[in-house]
Amino acid sequence: MADTRRIGIFGAGWVGLVTGGCFAELGHDVVVRDIVPERIEALRGGTLPFHEPDLPDVLARNAGRIHYTLDAEDLGATDVLFVCVQTPPTYSGDADLSYVWNALDQLPRVDRRQILAMKSTVPVGTGESVRAALEARGLVNVGYVSNPEFLAEGTAVRDFTNPDRLVLGAFADDDATVVEALYSGIEAPVVRTDVASAEMIKLAANAFLSTRISFINEIANVCELVGADVEDVAKGVGLDHRLGPHFFRAGVGWGGSCFGKDVSALKQLAGNSGYHFQLLAAVIEVNELQKRRVISKLEKHLGKLRGKTIAVLGLAFKPNTDDLRDAPSLVIASRLLAEGAIVRTWDPVADARGRLRGAQQCDSILDAVTGADAAVIVTEWPELRDLASAEVREAMARPLIVDGRNVLDPAKTRAAGFAYEGIGRGSSPFAALPETAEPAAEPPVRDSGPVEGGWENREVPPAETASARTTRKPR
Ligand code: UDX
Repeated sequence: MADTRRIGIFGAGWVGLVTGGCFAELGHDVVVRDIVPERIEALRGGTLPFHEPDLPDVLARNAGRIHYTLDAEDLGATDVLFVCVQTPPTYSGDADLSYVWNALDQLPRVDRRQILAMKSTVPVGTGESVRAALEARGLVNVGYVSNPEFLAEGTAVRDFTNPDRLVLGAFADDDATVVEALYSGIEAPVVRTDVASAEMIKLAANAFLSTRISFINEIANVCELVGADVEDVAKGVGLDHRLGPHFFRAGVGWGGSCFGKDVSALKQLAGNSGYHFQLLAAVIEVNELQKRRVISKLEKHLGKLRGKTIAVLGLAFKPNTDDLRDAPSLVIASRLLAEGAIVRTWDPVADARGRLRGAQQCDSILDAVTGADAAVIVTEWPELRDLASAEVREAMARPLIVDGRNVLDPAKTRAAGFAYEGIGRGSSPFAALPETAEPAAEPPVRDSGPVEGGWENREVPPAETASARTTRKPR
């Protein structure tokens, strides 16, 4: 353990509390400052404003080393001040830095050396602007280090204590050394660089992760047309050591508070700098379309969705969080409602009642699927692994499962009496494709699985219509 330092945190949000709690766990004294009185009150009483595994324990275990305050002057005694405030997108897609500037306005004036460490995701060039602002205010005693966070929701404590790397971009090498020393006890490669490069590392990492997902989602969509299985394809591709297996799961698209915002911020940053980042424009568009493909999968089996009851299973943008920000479930459920469907939702922790007017949130999976014409898995909660049960089949009006996260085994699900649609799991062999592409411009959509063929009264659109509807989707 290196020297114990006094650390200040601007912002008692998710990044701020994970950062503060984990630094306290490393033995440092931490002051967390926020502007919302109710939040500070709740934290003092031991209540967290969101769901994050392990964090309540970390904060409780280190309660003696963490002090919560509304008063920015309490940060005056700290050595390093981490800025952990939100940087939401503006209407133009740029990052809104007003919370960062507010934090700077509140910087206590002290005579000693203090270092401002930026954790918030900011556009490249922010550090340079902050330095100029500090100088203009005569705050020459304040150093600046860009130290982006790479925490994923649900695993944030583990990500902090076992990071893939620490990135430190500084104007003065000594400042980076001070911040690096705070992480003493954590094993990770350290990337020491300039401020602009550190800022870019964060944006590029999130943009590349999103690109990987949009890429495998497009591969999945082609797999459906040619009779390949994206699960095997991803495995086979991911075993190439140059590519790796991670972040390569096809599904209904990425969501969450970071990817959409950061990809858009990087695209915008490039545009503002005179470069059209074409690839990112496609990455974003592919993701939007991916969510909506669920609707055509349902229509393929049910025809018009007006009056049909659809169970949307999983609302959070991923498991182990109650976060609904940019969640694919919201787009899917809203589209279903717009089509006139009756939407019943279920999630073990996320509550969408305030956001999905007209949808009915259910307390159990069984409740959500009862009387439903289809069940759509949107978030891969572990509870959904047993969805293809006799009980669920019995409860549903029609046993159709659209598995938006490929969590179920297609063969077993069909054997259990369900019609099954996954993502990128072609249901007909390649040999079933027509010999020639003429006269149809694209191969017709093929029906899948043995079960749906046996349904009575289903409103499957004629092949031509179904094909036209699918192939004419705007791309
Ligand atoms: C992400 C980054 O991982 C993290 O480093 C950054 O600091 C913040 O943004 P997070 O938003 O918590 O973290 O979620 P993450 O686990 O990365 O998942 C993002 C989205 O991608 C989820 O909607 C998830 O379902 C989706 N996803 C992820 C896929 O569709 N396929 C995959 O293979 C991986």
